[in-house]
Amino acid sequence: MITKPTIDRIMEATDIVEVIGEFVQLKKRGANYIGLSPFANERTPSFTVSPVKGIFKDFSTGKGGSAITFLMELEKFTYPEALKWLAKKYSIEVEETVESSENKEEDNRRESLMIVSGFAAKYFHETMLETDEGKNIGLSYFKERGFNNETIKKFELGYSPDQWEAFTGEALKQGYQEAFLVDSGLSVKRDNGSLYDRYRGRVMFPIHSFTGRVIAFGGRTLKSDKNVPKYVNSPESDIYHKSNVLYGLYFAKKAIREEDNCYLVEGYADVLSVHQAGIENVVASSGTSLTAEQIKLIGRFTQNITILYDGDAAGIKASLRGLDMILEAGLNVKVVLFPDGHDPDSYVQKFGTSAFKKHVDDNKKDFILFKTSILLKEAGNDPIRKSEVIREIVESIAKIPDSIKASVFIKECSYILQIDERALLTELNKMRQAKAKKDHQQQQQTPRQQQMPDEPHFFDEPIVEVAKDESSQEKEIIRLLLLYGNKMIDWDGIANTYIGPFMIAELSDVEFEDTTCKQFMEIYRQEVENGVLPEEQHFIHHRDKGIVDLVVNLIATKYTLSENWYEMHKIMVPDEQANMKATILGAIFHLKKQKVGKILEGLRKELQTTPAEADQEILLNQYMHMKKVEKTISDYLGSVILK
Ligand code: GTP
Ligand code: MN
Repeated sequence: MITKPTIDRIMEATDIVEVIGEFVQLKKRGANYIGLSPFANERTPSFTVSPVKGIFKDFSTGKGGSAITFLMELEKFTYPEALKWLAKKYSIEVEETVESSENKEEDNRRESLMIVSGFAAKYFHETMLETDEGKNIGLSYFKERGFNNETIKKFELGYSPDQWEAFTGEALKQGYQEAFLVDSGLSVKRDNGSLYDRYRGRVMFPIHSFTGRVIAFGGRTLKSDKNVPKYVNSPESDIYHKSNVLYGLYFAKKAIREEDNCYLVEGYADVLSVHQAGIENVVASSGTSLTAEQIKLIGRFTQNITILYDGDAAGIKASLRGLDMILEAGLNVKVVLFPDGHDPDSYVQKFGTSAFKKHVDDNKKDFILFKTSILLKEAGNDPIRKSEVIREIVESIAKIPDSIKASVFIKECSYILQIDERALLTELNKMRQAKAKKDHQQQQQTPRQQQMPDEPHFFDEPIVEVAKDESSQEKEIIRLLLLYGNKMIDWDGIANTYIGPFMIAELSDVEFEDTTCKQFMEIYRQEVENGVLPEEQHFIHHRDKGIVDLVVNLIATKYTLSENWYEMHKIMVPDEQANMKATILGAIFHLKKQKVGKILEGLRKELQTTPAEADQEILLNQYMHMKKVEKTISDYLGSVILK
């Protein structure tokens, strides 16, 4: 376990805007920052960060919390992983007590996989730089391909010896567990149970997560034997999901943000050469065709993707269809072709940075126009094929969410295709309507998402969320505890008390139904017993995600009650501070009234199903008693409100 002082130090050092800013482009808006949600595909920002409160809130998915929650959500870190990431970022030394948890192994599984991968990267790197075989084969290969020391070091390139057990043997010797060696894909288990190296005699490209930890490898063979696969890649594991990793993103993200553009290439070598040439905003999809997750990943940093293709016509055509995905995500796609026989790697290595840049600038074409011209060339003069092309192009254009942008493309395509613009527009509208209908149907099937405001400034203008669930009164109590728990209340000069302990005492006989609310009350109660009045921050940084969610939702949105009694009684409470007493007593008694109501309902049911008269009598007595309690509460509520 990470010690409390360490956690405190980390919390103190953490600047939530700085942390989230590594993943999301944030713009200042008043006291807060807004940006596009990294958790959803959106074009209107609904993601807000409050540096003052140290929280974020994502209105499109409802996620919210501290910098730690953010890392846990986005990077799928565990709580200690998130803390360690922050500690590393702010150079804070982490103190840990001996783990007592039985689930240690479970908790640390991912961490162990990353540690063993990190060890492997170091092993391959050092083997290349320090052994004769490494130097003669691996290093000289990279040097031949034009990679300098800086690149080799930065990307932690390496070499795996041409032996069956060199790496595995060393790893086992150093105490790494077999299970992690196998699960990370670094070692393979033989039938007899012994392990051997997956990578033998290959140059190694570690693949980094976009927070910079090694999570997988690509190993390139140095043989020209056609029967040997050119690349061997790590299998999927708990830390490596091919479809949402882009090679080089960790080293590119800063430049992508700065340049507001991301170059997408095909291979490891392309990333390295282009990066080395000083064009650092470059990533590769590494062999797989681009996935929606990868696009989303890029979309966190920029809306502009430029795809650099080597000039192989068949390959280009195959990938065209997949690229509609990028349009759908609302990103702008440009395409650059390289002359036959060249890929970005060979081109930049041969002609240098400025020639490369010039080639890109001179040849970049908007994706739609690029696709149009390629398909058109292919169709030739065949009218049927040409009409298919038109349909396909309009289909792509229909995927562009921005209608102004779409109409510009229609104009340009009408020119290239030699078709009346209006005919294209009609076709476009038809497709859009069909799509809208389909989307609508889908929406009806899935639960309705919370409508998001165009420009959220939720901390300034709270969004009024009318809760329908029963726990709303419980949440109102918690909201008040968070807001006023550490404030004093003056009972008409008779006594001053802190609101928190007062509320806790008043509610000691009330069992909360919602488990998270109950948990919150329990934490609050315990802190009060320890003589502490816990503040917002205590809960925002709580290790239990349920608590963080609850608290952030309450302070980031204004919760109103389900059968909102302020409204029901036509009482305006414009300024809660001024009407603090009414608000607090109202909330307490309203909750009590609700509980009593439930008890009454239960009794009514029981009365109906209990035939024995004697039992009926008892139930009826209870019922009458609770009825009186209810009346007392109602009267009390009335009097509080009338004051
Ligand atoms: P060089 O030939 O060294 O320039 O490598 P490259 O990185 O340019 O690779 P290439 O353009 O041939 O392929 C593009 C990407 O596809 C590579 O970086 C790999 O990620 C992937 N790839 C290529 N060949 C194989 C293979 O045989 N197996 C697997 N799994 N992936 C491959
Ligand atoms: Mn290549």
